[in-house]
Amino acid sequence: MDQFQLRDGSYHCDSLPLNELSQSVGTPAYIYSKKMLEEHCSALLDAFKNYPTDACFAVKSLSNLSILKTIFAAGLGADLVSAGELQRALLAGAPTNRIVFSGVGKQEDEVRQALSAGILMFNVESPFEIDMIAGLAATANKTAAISLRINPNIDAQTNAKITTGLYSTKFGLTETDLPDLLNRIRSQPSLQLVGLACHIGSQILDLAPLREAAQQMAALSTSVRNLGFDLRYLNMGGGLGIRYSNEEPPSVMEYAEALIQGVRPTGLRLIIEPGRSLVGNIGVLLTRVISVKKTPERHFVVVDAAMNDLIRPTLYESYHTITSVNATVPNAPTALCDIVGPICESGDFLGKDRQMPLPVAGELLMVRGCGAYGSSMASQYNSRPRAPEILVDGAQFRIIRQRETLESLWANELHGFR
Ligand SMILES: Cc1ncc(COP(=O)(O)O)c(C=O)c1O
Repeated sequence: MDQFQLRDGSYHCDSLPLNELSQSVGTPAYIYSKKMLEEHCSALLDAFKNYPTDACFAVKSLSNLSILKTIFAAGLGADLVSAGELQRALLAGAPTNRIVFSGVGKQEDEVRQALSAGILMFNVESPFEIDMIAGLAATANKTAAISLRINPNIDAQTNAKITTGLYSTKFGLTETDLPDLLNRIRSQPSLQLVGLACHIGSQILDLAPLREAAQQMAALSTSVRNLGFDLRYLNMGGGLGIRYSNEEPPSVMEYAEALIQGVRPTGLRLIIEPGRSLVGNIGVLLTRVISVKKTPERHFVVVDAAMNDLIRPTLYESYHTITSVNATVPNAPTALCDIVGPICESGDFLGKDRQMPLPVAGELLMVRGCGAYGSSMASQYNSRPRAPEILVDGAQFRIIRQRETLESLWANELHGFR
């Protein structure tokens, strides 16, 4: 259930009024609902309970330690793409037998760390990686479990920048390369091929491409097994979309049904790597209006959050619902507004062309759907300290990432500063 609800004239997160919270933690600030996170995790696990499945949370989508701890405690594993994410996941208590390491450019030291942690498998994305992982595993006297990430050339029908299953993208290996890749794997005693993987994109709203991918991957697994490889897993990646405005994403049950139907004939254990669908809607970005100015075309509502806090609108032209934290007067006059940050880029906006009651300076706004790829993509551009992250649990809250200090912006520069 959505825990960001209007009550007694203002929005709350769980039972905490956001106005009150902003007085304690300042703005901009990311606010997450623990209850929603736990509900999303249990709904996901429930949807897959009738088929052997490992759900590995895509750490990149929201990598805060306290969030990860909650997710691992709920029974999920981790899908990661860097040594930084690996160490975060381990710190937060990830079960190592449910960690998969994806990514198109794994580096030697990252592979060494993952081998030493004893992760479940690497999702291999290039012939180069096969030899690299084999060499490092042999040196460490270990056998590395790998799956081959296949690019199935299926259009996920989503934003081009989050499409990852077409030949025009850098991801995965092609089916035609398989014979050569399998020969390479056979010649490497330190490798064990345990599965195939794919991830065709993110914010998927139509299940048809995922169904097609599951069927294609199931057929491919059968061919690979017929060549004598003892596969055990089929990894279908992440991708389930969420509602940012008026989208109608498939339910988690429909999503599970689509994947399971494709994979069931193989009997292979299913791996999924959900990110956005678990955390996207558990978070909002609170921001305060600095000023409002009128130009011949529109009003610009300048707020204290910017593209360094939330880059999705700039990067993907993605839509986030933006509302006042206080209930607006019914039938209040509206104006055409762009909600923009203070950064020196025309691309610095959180929302464009919004017909909304005109906010006033000092007003508290809430940018919805910011849990996924929000704080985890934040930067310090324009020397802006990154925003804090707050976890709300009932009427309590905990600062799970402090606001960065100004000093921290240049702390790593002092060493070479003369
Ligand atoms: C390999 C891989 N798995 C899983 C995910 C998570 O996708 P989503 O957040 O759409 O569920 C991503 C996202 O980019 C990814 O690259």
